[in-house]
Amino acid sequence: MGFWQQLGGKHRADLAEYGFQSIKRNLAFRYFTWRWSWSSIRRSEQMRFLLRHSSPLSIVRCALAAADLSDDTWSGMRWPSSGKGSSADATEPLDSGTEEDLGKMWPKRDRWLYVFAVRLLWRYATRHDPTRTTALPEPLTGNPLPVMSSGRLISQDLANSALELAAIERVLDGRRPASILELGAGYGRTAYALMSRYPQATYTIVDIEPALSISRWYLSLLFDPSRLRFLHPEDAGQIASDSIDLALSISSLQEMTPDLVAGYLALFDRASGGGVVYLKQWLSWFNPVDKVRMTFDEYAIPGRWSLKFKEPAPVQTNFVQAGWHVATLPSPGAAAVALPAATQTIQEPVA
Ligand SMILES: C[S@@+](CC[C@H](N)C(=O)[O-])C[C@H]1O[C@@H](n2cnc3c(N)ncnc32)[C@H](O)[C@@H]1O
Repeated sequence: MGFWQQLGGKHRADLAEYGFQSIKRNLAFRYFTWRWSWSSIRRSEQMRFLLRHSSPLSIVRCALAAADLSDDTWSGMRWPSSGKGSSADATEPLDSGTEEDLGKMWPKRDRWLYVFAVRLLWRYATRHDPTRTTALPEPLTGNPLPVMSSGRLISQDLANSALELAAIERVLDGRRPASILELGAGYGRTAYALMSRYPQATYTIVDIEPALSISRWYLSLLFDPSRLRFLHPEDAGQIASDSIDLALSISSLQEMTPDLVAGYLALFDRASGGGVVYLKQWLSWFNPVDKVRMTFDEYAIPGRWSLKFKEPAPVQTNFVQAGWHVATLPSPGAAAVALPAATQTIQEPVA
């Protein structure tokens, strides 16, 4: 059983317990919403980055601005309060708290730290936001955390998406994508930003359950469903060759096995001839379940992709982000690589 297949059971249990309505307070933290806690803050690469890139005045303002930390507004934040992840910035893909941690509310000091970190991140993102993603409202759908700045609701997901869109537009180089494919979209935070930025674009998500049902629920409430397509991995063959202008994957590949990654890169290659690809993945990550270390530099990038940039991601500096143009010329050998059967994992629909 692979890493995400094993996680699927926990995710479905979370979903059964908390429901779709509060997805931003539980399952999002298994995707790309990060948690900070005082017990591990000294090891946090993200906090180091944010402090280094904030003026002393900003730091003081973020720390001193009033914050509502009441139990009522933070209801449902029942993650382990100690920072026992594989890294201080861990999204806790595996449960890492002890039995007695589980189910406890975040303590107020960690709520404060979360607000402080998100405010720092927000300020950084607004300074590096050519797509104006931080001007979008944070959707109330999914019950976001009550983090306010200058009188408005802000979120780390919108801030991170702003930084990702800034990189994506560098590789798009002025083109406006009419069709976007995302592999492993979590609850749909990046899709929200991209679909808002490109209101004419259609958006296809390839994912396993329960994430596929979650992003379908979330995005269908926010956008015209005719713009959306949701595919299980075994249905990815429905995506026509050269039909995609922008293909992306954020923090999905490193948690798969090498044959799965090769299959998905071949899918991107086949689908996005003439388009662009954006990847943001851990530089190197040990998958404890499949016992495999995935390293960005070892991904078998198809020969017809030409690299436009590759660099440490901002804020999540343990991640690499890169963008490629995909030529329209046939890719040598690409057609021979099919999605491995192992992608056919957790498919039962979630209620
Ligand atoms: C760490 S989350 C990242 C989510 C999202 N990209 C984000 O940044 O918010 C990993 C995503 O990869 C998906 N995933 C895991 N294994 C997969 C597989 N075999 N095929 C497709 N998606 C997969 C998960 O369901 C999840 O949506």
